[in-house]
Amino acid sequence: MIRIAVLGAGRIGKIHAANVAANPDAKLIVVADPFGDAASSLAKRLGCHAATDCLAAIERDDVDAIVIGTPTDTHIQFMLHAIAKGKAVLCEKPIDLDMAKSVAAANEVERLDGRVMLAFNRRFDPTSQAFRKAIDAGEVGEVRQVVITSRDPGMPPREYVKHSGGIFRDMVIHDLDLARWYLGEEPVEVMAMASCLVEPSLSEVPDFDTVMLQLRTASGKQCHINCCREAVYGYDQRMEVFGSKGMLLQDNLRPSTIRRWTDSATDAREPLLNFFLERYETAYKTELTAFVEALRTKSAFPTSVQDGLKALRLADCALESAMSGKSVKV
Ligand SMILES: NC(=O)c1ccc[n+]([C@@H]2O[C@H](COP(=O)([O-])OP(=O)(O)OC[C@H]3O[C@@H](n4cnc5c(N)ncnc54)[C@H](O)[C@@H]3O)[C@@H](O)[C@H]2O)c1
Repeated sequence: MIRIAVLGAGRIGKIHAANVAANPDAKLIVVADPFGDAASSLAKRLGCHAATDCLAAIERDDVDAIVIGTPTDTHIQFMLHAIAKGKAVLCEKPIDLDMAKSVAAANEVERLDGRVMLAFNRRFDPTSQAFRKAIDAGEVGEVRQVVITSRDPGMPPREYVKHSGGIFRDMVIHDLDLARWYLGEEPVEVMAMASCLVEPSLSEVPDFDTVMLQLRTASGKQCHINCCREAVYGYDQRMEVFGSKGMLLQDNLRPSTIRRWTDSATDAREPLLNFFLERYETAYKTELTAFVEALRTKSAFPTSVQDGLKALRLADCALESAMSGKSVKV
């Protein structure tokens, strides 16, 4: 039984805590969050301890591993504290918004021989896993191009945007991680375009809401990513992997496959799944299971701090490219 503390009882902390509580090989010991009754109400629901002091929760003798779901600027502090206490970590993306700080943290994790898994949940989505298996089995031959469309249903609050680190580090980072995973080679060049088409005043932050990226690996493999903070028709998550022997295509998921014919529409289907909590519900569960399983069997984590660093580096290059109008060597 892996005994776990979950830090943060917000959107993602609630998901992780519920998944720990439901996992037969894990025990949710404590949920920690310094603000309001977030921790106590979640702990009451899931039947574990509540704490307001995250560092004390990490130090508990009855805790083996830590899941970090707190705001991004707290990740490194909690990660390094946990590692120093000999505890394994599942850390939400991104490691931090600052590259130099993230590199220093990764070096410290390595120096202390710490175990950290980066929470790139999309890799654990059943379709992503099926893509990876098909690529590994040679079904599409040599991968030539990856195309990813990732559009949120609506703009997040301005306050969130201000502290998010910008669309590339906050949102596109998931797609950059997937791009690396499917291409099977590191991108060496990034070209990005970025605009404020949803909310022009976003340029004051400064940030963007609509972006397109192109990535190229050393052997010439290509990836195109397009992201927007608002799609009026819902959370749009599609992917394509094209290779020398074929193509894999992932369409959006819906609550059911029902199609309707009425006097106002034909072949109408249900709306897309609401947002990431619904669309990636299974992915978050599988991610947590992978973390627990790796700890139980003492095997390597499927994602690492290095994956976090590489995705962040690509996000920084994309921002530089968008600002300069030039392609950027990674
Ligand atoms: N992998 C994903 O799909 C995904 C989705 C959403 C968020 N995230 C990441 O998860 C992290 C949290 O995002 P969220 O959307 O859940 O945010 P949130 O604001 O909903 O929740 C954050 C929680 O942390 C608490 N908190 C604030 N300051 C704290 C501090 N100093 N120490 C400890 N706790 C503190 C808040 O009280 C809040 O309950 C971010 O790093 C974000 O990038 C990942």
